[in-house]
Amino acid sequence: MSRTAARPPAAAKLTEPGWLTTTLGDADYEFLCQLIYERSRIHLGPDKRVLVASRLAKRLRHLNLNSYQEYCELMRSPAGAEELQFLIDRISTNHTHFFREIKHFEFIRDVIIPTWNAVKGRKEPFRIWSSASSTGEEPYSLAIHFAENFAPAESGRWQIEATDISTRVLEVATQGIYEQERLTSVGPEALRRHFQKGEKKWAGHFRVKDELRRRVHFHHLNLLEGAYPFAWSFDLILCRNVMIYFDRPTQETLVQRLTAKLVPGGHLLVGHSESLSGVKHSLKLVRPAIYLKPAA
Ligand SMILES: C[S@@+](CC[C@H](N)C(=O)[O-])C[C@H]1O[C@@H](n2cnc3c(N)ncnc32)[C@H](O)[C@@H]1O
Repeated sequence: MSRTAARPPAAAKLTEPGWLTTTLGDADYEFLCQLIYERSRIHLGPDKRVLVASRLAKRLRHLNLNSYQEYCELMRSPAGAEELQFLIDRISTNHTHFFREIKHFEFIRDVIIPTWNAVKGRKEPFRIWSSASSTGEEPYSLAIHFAENFAPAESGRWQIEATDISTRVLEVATQGIYEQERLTSVGPEALRRHFQKGEKKWAGHFRVKDELRRRVHFHHLNLLEGAYPFAWSFDLILCRNVMIYFDRPTQETLVQRLTAKLVPGGHLLVGHSESLSGVKHSLKLVRPAIYLKPAA
């Protein structure tokens, strides 16, 4: 690795100790942004350059590359296709936590579950889709909520699908192991009922119990590509804190695709900071960040 003492041009600079000084220049940044946009529709503005540079720093070291330029060359080579998944994994923001945006869970408990509980004679389960599930906290929060609020005899009446574009987060989600401090919003009773306490090397961690983990099915899926691989429509879809990264036309396309996968009378929940105002859609706003697909 060569080190340079020369002052780099104004661009995102990597200056971690023990690491060369290299910069993510305009052309390389634009190239990476375009690639990320084409693959995931995540829109990165100029303000994200430092973030991208720092998130890729470790990867460059791992690949023994000396500069972002070399990384871009790799992306242009046949090996780039495989590397692209890694790039998306590093760039997508996966922040989440249990029972995030509690108003949604209150709505599910107070409105959705009583409505579903009152339905008689329905053969198929109620279907829920956590469409950008990240490391699993969202779909497991849903599973806890449904396990707690449907009578045990009704437990076969709901099923959860959970998807994400990032294979890295899906691995974490599938394992269902979380540090204790990430579980404060679960509450001691639910923690005891639905989690197993780790011992020895897993001390300080909890694992979602098998019976709950079995109720959540994780899949790798890009929300913006191809037909959705579900033969059925959903009664409830959560698409929270992901649209914020997309531009308006992409948000519109996504909302239309998700609406097509909702049953009439089904609900779409978006993040509270993701207004659909300015996005063309056919849904009815029932509460902040909660939309209903009207009956046909
Ligand atoms: C900030 S997390 C939100 C997690 C959870 N929904 C919540 O609100 O806590 C955003 C997630 O969206 C995923 N994502 C980004 N672009 C996506 C796409 N095109 N298709 C599917 N998932 C995507 C990211 O990998 C990330 O895990």
